Amino acid sequence: MALVTTTEMFKKAYDGGYAIGAFNVNNMEIVQGITEACREEKAPVILQVSKGARAYANRTYLVKMVEAAVIECPEIPIALHLDHGDSFETCKSCIDDGFTSVMIDASSKPFAENIELTRKVVEYAHDHGVVVEAELGALAGVEDEVNVSAENSHYTRPEEVEEFVSKTGCDSLAIAIGTSHGAYKFKPGTKPQLRFDILEEVSKKLPGFPIVLHGSSSVPQNYVEMINAHGGKMPGAIGVPEDQLREAARLAVCKINIDSDLRLAMTGTIREYFDEHPDHFDPRQYLKPARANIKELVRHKLVDVLGCAGKA
Ligand code: G3H
Ligand code: 13P
Ligand code: ZN
Repeated sequence: MALVTTTEMFKKAYDGGYAIGAFNVNNMEIVQGITEACREEKAPVILQVSKGARAYANRTYLVKMVEAAVIECPEIPIALHLDHGDSFETCKSCIDDGFTSVMIDASSKPFAENIELTRKVVEYAHDHGVVVEAELGALAGVEDEVNVSAENSHYTRPEEVEEFVSKTGCDSLAIAIGTSHGAYKFKPGTKPQLRFDILEEVSKKLPGFPIVLHGSSSVPQNYVEMINAHGGKMPGAIGVPEDQLREAARLAVCKINIDSDLRLAMTGTIREYFDEHPDHFDPRQYLKPARANIKELVRHKLVDVLGCAGKA
C-alpha cells in the first residue's frame, strides 16, 4: 500500500469509536519501533514530522524513512503528516515533498487570520490531493516550536467551530479541551479532567467531523522513574489519564497525538543501558532496546488507549 491520506482512516475511526495514533518521528529507530508495533497489531497509523524534526533530520531523510516503513509494512495504511505547520510555505514544502496530510497551526492568530491562512493552505493542499488539519483554541505546554503559557491557553469555543470549518474547508480540527504539550504536564496529586462537555458541544455542531487531540501523552511513571534512577532529573508529572483518552476516542476524536511518552521511553532505556554497560560504545547496542521499548509502548497505546488494533 502506498502512503495514504487520513480520509478513510478517520471515517472508519469515527464510525467505529476508536482513534488513530499520531506519533512523532525524529529518527530511524522511532519510525521502526512505531511501525513494527502497528504492523503486528494491524493498526493504521499516522507518522508525523514537526518543523523541528524536519530541521533536525533535513527535509529528505524522514520522508524516505517513512517511505521505507511503507515498503516494510504493506498491510497497514500509513499517513505522513506535518505536525504544527506554522506557515503556508512550510505546508507547501511538505506537500511538494510527498506528505499526505499537513497541519496548519494558526491557532495563536486572531480568528479571522486563522481562517484566512488555513483556507489558503487548504486550497493548495486539496489541489494536490492532501488533507489539512487546523486548530482552534490554545493548549498550554512547551515543545520546540510550540510554547504557550497557562495564562495564554484557552479552551476551544464551540460557537466558533461551524463557521471555521465551513469557511476554511479543513478536513479535521484540533481542539483544546484540557490536554497539554510536553512531559511536564499536571502536578502529582491533581486530577486532570478533559472537558468532555466541550467535546460533545463541538461534535454536535460538526456531526461526523473528525476531531484531533494534541498533547495526549500520559507520562508513563515507569519511564520517569527509570530516567531519574539513572542520572536524569525529570520532575514528577502525571500526564493525561489514559482512560479519558479512551473515552475521547469513543466519541468524535479520530486522531490522538503522542510524542513525549515515546521520548521518555527512549531516554529512560538509553540512560539505564549506559549505567548498566559503562564499557559499551556501539550505538546499535543502546538503540536496540530503546527501539524495542518504543514498540511495546506503542503497542499498549494501540490496544489499550486508542482502540485501533486490528482496524487496518
Ligand atoms: O507538539 C509538538 C511535538 O511534540 C513535536 O515537538 O517541535 O520538539 O519536534 P518538537
Ligand atoms: P505530547 O507532548 O503530549 O506527546 O503531545 C504531542 C503532540 O501534540 C504533537 O503535536
Ligand atoms: Zn501538538
